[in-house]
Amino acid sequence: MALTGAPVDRVDGRLKVTGHAAYAGDFSRPRMTYGVLVLSNIPAGRIAAIDLSQTTHMPGVVAVLTHLNAARLPDGGRAGVDPPAGRVLSLLQDEVVHYNRQPIALVIADTLDRASAAARQVAVRYETSPPTLDFAAGRAAAHAPDKVNMQPADSRRGRFAQGGEGATEDPAAGAAHVSAAYTTPMEHHNPMEPHATLAEWEGDRLTLYDATQYISGCQTTVAKTLGIPKENVRVVCPYVGGGFGCKGSAWSHVVLAAMAARHVGRPVKVVLERPQMFGPVGGRPETLQHFTLTAAPDGRFLSMTHDVWSHTSLIEDFTEGAALQTRIMYTCPSVETRHRLVSLNVGTPTFQRAPGHATGTFALESAIDEMASMLNMDPVQLRLRNEPAEDPERHVPWSSRCLRQCYQSGAEAFGWSRRSPKPGSMRQGGELIGWGVAAATYPANRSPAKARARLTQDGTVVVECGTQDLGTGTYTVMTQIAADELGLPLDRVRFELGDSRYPEAPVSGGSQSAASVAPAVRAAARALREKWIALKVGDEPTAAMMARNGGGEIIADGVAQPGDEKKTHSLHSFGAVFLEVRVDRELGIIWVPRVVARYSVGRLLNAKLGRSQLMGGVVWGLGMGLMEESVTDGRDGRIVNANLAEYHVPTNADIGVIDVDVVPEFDPYIDPEGARGIGEIGITGVAAALANAVYHATGVRVRSLPITLDKLLV
Ligand code: MOS
Repeated sequence: MALTGAPVDRVDGRLKVTGHAAYAGDFSRPRMTYGVLVLSNIPAGRIAAIDLSQTTHMPGVVAVLTHLNAARLPDGGRAGVDPPAGRVLSLLQDEVVHYNRQPIALVIADTLDRASAAARQVAVRYETSPPTLDFAAGRAAAHAPDKVNMQPADSRRGRFAQGGEGATEDPAAGAAHVSAAYTTPMEHHNPMEPHATLAEWEGDRLTLYDATQYISGCQTTVAKTLGIPKENVRVVCPYVGGGFGCKGSAWSHVVLAAMAARHVGRPVKVVLERPQMFGPVGGRPETLQHFTLTAAPDGRFLSMTHDVWSHTSLIEDFTEGAALQTRIMYTCPSVETRHRLVSLNVGTPTFQRAPGHATGTFALESAIDEMASMLNMDPVQLRLRNEPAEDPERHVPWSSRCLRQCYQSGAEAFGWSRRSPKPGSMRQGGELIGWGVAAATYPANRSPAKARARLTQDGTVVVECGTQDLGTGTYTVMTQIAADELGLPLDRVRFELGDSRYPEAPVSGGSQSAASVAPAVRAAARALREKWIALKVGDEPTAAMMARNGGGEIIADGVAQPGDEKKTHSLHSFGAVFLEVRVDRELGIIWVPRVVARYSVGRLLNAKLGRSQLMGGVVWGLGMGLMEESVTDGRDGRIVNANLAEYHVPTNADIGVIDVDVVPEFDPYIDPEGARGIGEIGITGVAAALANAVYHATGVRVRSLPITLDKLLV
């Protein structure tokens, strides 16, 4: 087991830094053309006319696909709809506009420049309808979703379950009460690699080179949407330049690329322009979260309510499960949570890193800090006071929860005991210093997966699996697992992924790839090793053994799937985030010189890549806390800062020291490797720790993200 967990360098690192790793947009096919999307610039209405007279005669233009000439798809383009894997797409099937930046045409030309130039000449006349864009006003007509991440939208326990909708007053005398509204803005994913799809038909067979977190999901969605057999669609994706949820679904441009390639009889490549990331391919929905918390004078939590409103589109419900962690995080006899949706004329939102938990922990962990202030208790002590021994909602044991150790180790590394509790009491020159803490959490998921191991002629073992590497390290970790099981050095094993011809694996979303795929890879490697041992005579060389067995490869398959651990145990990851802010007293500028975060995530399958991934999550948490916000024009529903100059994400210069580590742990229930996922937990809790630190520094409680300096100049 020496290789599993080792801090091995990325096996694909050299390819990436030398530019040899081929991302979806890097592929090229003979006779390839370029498609550029034209997006609506109204939020609601219909296309009255499209004037292509300035477009079709431009140099190099091959075709323009609009709702007037696009192929009619089965069920109006909805045959592949199966949220959340198959979204309601915009496929040029009618003239109706449901959101700003909805795809309404695709211009295809022989070069990218020509396609881009021609796309800008498409003239559209609209008949606009009054749009619904006001989130606050829309709350009056909010509706309940069916489910939130496969869980009920509402929950009630304790006195809320007995007395109806919060009907009975909390009986405790002398209880302290926090009641506050927290908001988080609409945000958009901005991976380095935008969405990109190259579609090529050979007869009735379609190949898609696509930037996706879900090869088999893309294959299924596109096949169903086009009404062709799944076997006729091949999806290839060896590298993903960041996903974070937006590439978990096949969005409109994927199907449109396939439609266009069929239309023009040539391969078509569509790469989204950066502004096109803000609308048609998901984003994090805006939330309003009402939170109430009641605690006894000794800090025991008595009741909590968490009401979440988030926006969705008018064509599909997507729910940000921001209250889900509130059901399980603390010992609390009475808890009520609710999720409600406000439908707006905007693009459908989607999963964005730690969906629900990134936004939800901001409210929960801010409210707990407010309670700590009210009770004059140390915020770490208040949390430890309410640390649950089992899942407080389902009354089943945790698979493992080492959050106490996280607080202990984090507090020690941070120097928390030196904190002076009074807000504004720690200063240095013109700077106010604030120290804040918050808990992090994200569920542990796992799905069935398959893999295949082949002993090849040159003695190398190739392991194949239809999973994805989002840049997180799947190539490396699975190479480690296979080499470990086979007893081979790393350079004798090659792990291949990113092709729907390989054995099927689940979406690389919900932080589940490692827990799902690693057991399948190990099973395939083990099966191959057993075959190998059985075939080998004495100490004959491998080449001789293979020659004696007909000279072909030796192949073994592995399958792995979850058992009933989700029923018998509560599977979640946890963490403690300690954060220091320095706030300029005159200008309110916030700088975060250091973060210390400790996580309870089971075993890390690669100590180096695992820490990097957790650190990346913390960086995004700082972006969420300080910068990220998609600003919508209230008149036309268009996001006005749809570019990386005005939609700010952290750069190196924004980041101080981030010290992340994990508690030594092996989760015996999540999977045989003992590893829970780490893709998302890193972002959770950070924004709350920041808000709590800002409060500690300044005495100003900011309940609305991002915490920009204007919110401190009060
Ligand atoms: Mo994650 S938001 O499920 O890619």
